[in-house]
Amino acid sequence: MMELKFIRPYVKRYGLQYLIGIAALLLVDALNVYIPRFTGQITDGLETHSIGMNEIWFLIAKILLFGVFIALGRFAWRYFILGPARSIERELRDDMFGHLETLSMRYFNEHKTGDLMAHFTNDLASIRMFLGFTIITAFDASVMLVLVLAQMILYVSPKLTIVAVLPLILIMFGDYYYGKVMHRKFLEKQQAFSDLTDQVQESVSGIRVIKAFVQERKELAAFARMNLFNQEKNLSVVKLYSLFLPLLDLVIGASGLLTLLYGGYLAIAGEITLGQFVAFNQYISMLVWPMFAAGDCITYISQGLASLKRIIVIFHEKPEIVDGFDVDRTIESLTGEIDLKGLTFSYPDQDHMSVLDQIDLHVEAGETLAIIGRTGSGKSTLANLLLRLYDTEPGMIRMDGHPIKEIPLAVLRENIAYVPQDNFLFSDTLENNIAFGIKKDRKEIEQAAKDACIHDNIMEFPDGYSTIVGERGVTISGGQKQRSSIARALLKNAPILILDDALSAVDTDTEEQILHNLRRNRAGKTTLIIAHRISTIQNADHILVLDEGRAAEYGTHDQLMEKNGIYRSIYDKQQLEKQLQEEGGEIR
Ligand SMILES: Nc1ncnc2c1ncn2[C@@H]1O[C@H](COP(=O)(O)OP(=O)(O)OP(=O)(O)O)[C@@H](O)[C@H]1O
Ligand SMILES: [Mg+2]
Repeated sequence: MMELKFIRPYVKRYGLQYLIGIAALLLVDALNVYIPRFTGQITDGLETHSIGMNEIWFLIAKILLFGVFIALGRFAWRYFILGPARSIERELRDDMFGHLETLSMRYFNEHKTGDLMAHFTNDLASIRMFLGFTIITAFDASVMLVLVLAQMILYVSPKLTIVAVLPLILIMFGDYYYGKVMHRKFLEKQQAFSDLTDQVQESVSGIRVIKAFVQERKELAAFARMNLFNQEKNLSVVKLYSLFLPLLDLVIGASGLLTLLYGGYLAIAGEITLGQFVAFNQYISMLVWPMFAAGDCITYISQGLASLKRIIVIFHEKPEIVDGFDVDRTIESLTGEIDLKGLTFSYPDQDHMSVLDQIDLHVEAGETLAIIGRTGSGKSTLANLLLRLYDTEPGMIRMDGHPIKEIPLAVLRENIAYVPQDNFLFSDTLENNIAFGIKKDRKEIEQAAKDACIHDNIMEFPDGYSTIVGERGVTISGGQKQRSSIARALLKNAPILILDDALSAVDTDTEEQILHNLRRNRAGKTTLIIAHRISTIQNADHILVLDEGRAAEYGTHDQLMEKNGIYRSIYDKQQLEKQLQEEGGEIR
């Protein structure tokens, strides 16, 4: 079976522990099964007045000694079986996380974070149950069943055994059925709970929008509905449980009654001794648990296997963007020359709507290329393709003359510094955010922050560079976040820098300052600036105007102005806006 084949190497590493654990389990069971004999012997001795206090003390001492060994054995099997189960869970989680990180953007676009979280928590927990408790239960239950039944038959009476055990078999079937229904109800309960958490999470993240649109009441109503649903699902689990327990008691009671009745009769008839009768009653109570456990096991095993299956799907997910067979390991760095030939691209599973269409361009190392165009025209997509977050047809993108697929991924990405449009800061200090993944001393970090015009802001924060930002720290403004991302990219000082709309949230003065620093800093290095404002890009060596994925216009600022096309009309509009703003300022 695929699931077992997958988990085997993990389990194998702990083979010895599992063996010791199982041996301890066997020992405990064997000792346990023996104890009723002692009570039987004492009873028989008392009845026939054949033992004195000394023998009783001796037997009790033996029972105590057995008890000590049983306790030690119980500790051992817990330690040696539950321990590895936890370790395997940890290893699986590490491996899964490592694997997840290799997967391509497409995978993360298609899978909800909540679902991935569920795999990391619920599924791994049920696999741990499967590898720990279920193994113990299955093993213990079957061994106990055999041993106790053997004792009953050999030491007491086969006839009595059959009569007493018959009702108990009901438990096994009943429990199996109960487990199935319970599992279904349990899943529903879990789903209801996960919907509830989703709702809370979403409302908390969107609390500003909710408040701004005065939707608190509506949100509360929606939440109350879900909360009620969650309660109902919980209640139905409790109901089933409370129905099952009394029924179980009934069956156990019935079995006990039958034992008393028939066992008493056999004892009176002299077929069994009083001691055997007493021991048998103990055996019956020892049988209840294995019967019960057998049903549980089937449930847990099926849950564990189902979880394994879901996890294997993740492990079998292949990273699509990898170093292929044609990768050229001799390439160790890039100079920054970029060449696009007929670059055409559509996102996977998007009905082949071209997001980029036949783009040709050439950027020499050290030049600055600017890209402007309406929202949705494909600017960020182009940046993604240069980072090889998605693959294109061979030959469409070359850097330093190498097809992009021949460049080792690590080299490619090390040689590109990137400020994504939705710049992201980790819940960490500003210093660590700026020096993300690179070892730099404080002076360099501060210089990068100065060049990105964020240094002064940082110094005003309570803890300066040690200020923690993100979810666990202070909230910094959109513009500050953006400039921190720019500082991070500048610090990397790579041959290629891509700024995706990275100056959208700064005022024109600061923009000018940052552009000035960029020119000084990036002399001789390639820079790609994506922007909406002409002021950001007018000094670039080349300007590409994207329109619905096509290169509508291409040239320098002066050439494009002369052309009197899209670029010119954007320019005119922005000039007009600027004039209006300035006039507005004068009137005030
Ligand atoms: N991951 C994705 N999967 C599918 N389609 C996408 C994806 N990302 C973007 N698109 C689509 O591709 C087109 C181009 O998007 P892109 O983000 O490149 O535009 P943009 O020029 O950067 O826009 P903006 O100026 O708003 O940032 C859009 O129609 C968008 O809906
Ligand atoms: Mg964009």
